[in-house]
Amino acid sequence: MLPPYRIKVVEPIPFLSAEERRHALAGAGYNPFNLRAEQITIDLLSDSGTGATSVAQEAVAALGDESYAGARSWFRFVAEVQDLTGYPHILPVHQGRAGERILFTNLLKPGQICISNTHFDTTHANVHLAGAEPRDLPCAEAADLDSVDPFKGNIDLDALERVLNGPDGERVGLVLITVTNNGLGAQPVSMANLEAVRDLCRRHRVPFYLDAARFAENAWLVSRREPGYRTWSPRQIARRAFELADGCVVSLKKDGLSAVGGFIGLRDPDLHARCEANLIATEGFSTYGGLAGHDLERLAQGLREVVDPAYLRARAAATSRLAQMINDEGVDLIQPPGIHALYLNAGRLLPHLAAHQFPGHALGCQLYLDGGIRCAELGSLYLGRLDDQHRLVSPAPFELVRLAIPRRVYSDEHFQYVAAILADIAKDPERVPGYRIVSSPPLLRHFKVRLEPVTRSSTVDAG
Ligand code: F0G
Repeated sequence: MLPPYRIKVVEPIPFLSAEERRHALAGAGYNPFNLRAEQITIDLLSDSGTGATSVAQEAVAALGDESYAGARSWFRFVAEVQDLTGYPHILPVHQGRAGERILFTNLLKPGQICISNTHFDTTHANVHLAGAEPRDLPCAEAADLDSVDPFKGNIDLDALERVLNGPDGERVGLVLITVTNNGLGAQPVSMANLEAVRDLCRRHRVPFYLDAARFAENAWLVSRREPGYRTWSPRQIARRAFELADGCVVSLKKDGLSAVGGFIGLRDPDLHARCEANLIATEGFSTYGGLAGHDLERLAQGLREVVDPAYLRARAAATSRLAQMINDEGVDLIQPPGIHALYLNAGRLLPHLAAHQFPGHALGCQLYLDGGIRCAELGSLYLGRLDDQHRLVSPAPFELVRLAIPRRVYSDEHFQYVAAILADIAKDPERVPGYRIVSSPPLLRHFKVRLEPVTRSSTVDAG
């Protein structure tokens, strides 16, 4: 599958010796978030703001209008977003979580519940910070990592209906569907699921919003997997998804094909007025929201490029090829492969490590030590419950490692390298040590936690 572009500007990548990597990881408190980018050979930590821009994006960036209010670039951006989403009210923000904070503090009341297929980590934190309770109701199929069900990103409709009809029903202040489901395998949400959520929310008078960071990738997977949408363009599918919801919050660092940006899309004029006041006080005037004119230009152009079927086809195919290379080496990952990331089943690859030794984190560290590859744990370190001494009291359901794929950045040769490093670990998994937490912040632990490897002699007392 040929990508519909060629490479024009390149950036050198660092190659460190094994000794240098050992030293770098120890200095980072065995947390890859603390590494410096120049210590990393292949960076799969995030697909957020890490993609390559196009010549067209850079050309229009030069036209960026930096007027404080009412800039030309704002009008270009807002026309593009309104055309894509159909929402009359658009508020720009510098990134997705700023939109979450503004939306949730104006939409949710303390004590209310926000229900989602799966809240992303900052989304979860922002619901909490608004005084509300985030509750995840992923569909049952999502629990079987090996199942190739096409829409494992769906919300569990029966469970949602039970909550809405039950004693907590009155407390539900928002239903937020994340497309694609980043917290659970980059799995897509079907249009049928979104329609059913819309119906339930209407019946119960609960607002229904999309967290649409990867709206184009979800649309592509719908066009491939959902009968009835085969002849729809990704843009038409995305537009229909936005139409089903009352509004959205979007990080444009993903499918905006840019390094910064986001927006809130709304139909409700009163909510818009409240959010706008908050935006002006905390992000910037409502025609730039913390973004420069050149950012708004790059985003407006990026939103056109991201729904190009040739781009989406090549991107989906690249991720599938990496998935196949990894499977061929005997390493399992969440099936079926999504687009923006692959999720390695570290629990299965490293059965000698118990949950309290953080097998996902251990695999992530080993990928760095052996190959300079950086990725993120999605397991008990991220989701488990710890006591005051940082001991794990309840593990996460799965021990996963996310390999996020930046857009238009790496080639098959880079992917072959990643698969080869993984193959080497899979040949002798027992050499991978577990880890123990040394210090940890109270909120969003995985970003700043510091750890140390557990040597065999200390394994006994670690339990
Ligand atoms: N929602 C989803 C589904 C996300 O994946 C992210 C970010 C956000 C909201 C927040 O957006 O970063 O612009 O503030 N995800 C990145 C990731 C960080 O690596 O998955 P942001």
